[in-house]
Amino acid sequence: MRKPLVAGNWKMNMTRATGQALVAELSGLPAAVEVVVCPPFTLLAEIAAHCPAGVSTGGQDCFWVPNGAFTGQISAEMLDDAGARYGIVGHSETRGRFGKLDIDAGDVGYFAETNTTVRRKMEALMRVGLVPILCVGETLAEREAGRTEDVIREQLEGAFQGFTEGDMAKTVVAYEPVWAIGTGQTCAADEANRVCAFIRQWFPAGVQNQVRVLYGGSVKAENAAELFGQSDIDGGLVGGASLDAAGFRRIVEAAAP
Ligand code: PGA
Repeated sequence: MRKPLVAGNWKMNMTRATGQALVAELSGLPAAVEVVVCPPFTLLAEIAAHCPAGVSTGGQDCFWVPNGAFTGQISAEMLDDAGARYGIVGHSETRGRFGKLDIDAGDVGYFAETNTTVRRKMEALMRVGLVPILCVGETLAEREAGRTEDVIREQLEGAFQGFTEGDMAKTVVAYEPVWAIGTGQTCAADEANRVCAFIRQWFPAGVQNQVRVLYGGSVKAENAAELFGQSDIDGGLVGGASLDAAGFRRIVEAAAP
């Protein structure tokens, strides 16, 4: 049986004071749900040290080399040292698009991440025993062009190239349609479930029942129960709604079996 997982992605939000106050309000969440908060790097060690029982922490990104002359980067080893147990990889805000990033034209990825660098980051996290939360998902233009499955297949093939089945089974995949992130436009639950099932079925048979597949994109207290009630959705990756303790608690409760 897969344990439901709800991860809060704080993105570039919170201070030491507001972050600590938020996690202080997260005690007593249902033990049947694994709960993760992913603060900015500067807060990670402090939040990891102050998380109530049952809540663990994750990084929002990492670099794949353990240490060295890489200004501005944070390695998987550093996430581990700060107390993280998870790491988000391949978020649409860190991916780029085909090397033609144009922020002024409204491109969504800011850090030109490719399927190859995503795989290196996945490997780096696994090397230190952290659990990758791999984000995949299509843009609106890709969906309208009927390319949703093709895009996701490419993202999965790139991220898991060379992985053993045993390692695949330890990871978490989040289906995050780019058009649903931060827009308030949640993907309909049955459609989210259909794509999550597609993701699950991409894996070898022995992995399918073990890998956890989450949905992310405008998850909130009001729609969480319907999304998490779907057969192939094992929980959620929550952005904006994870910044409010009461709302995040309701989302976690909605994931309890
Ligand atoms: P959102 O973000 O919940 O604010 O849409 C989700 C995410 O980017 O992980």
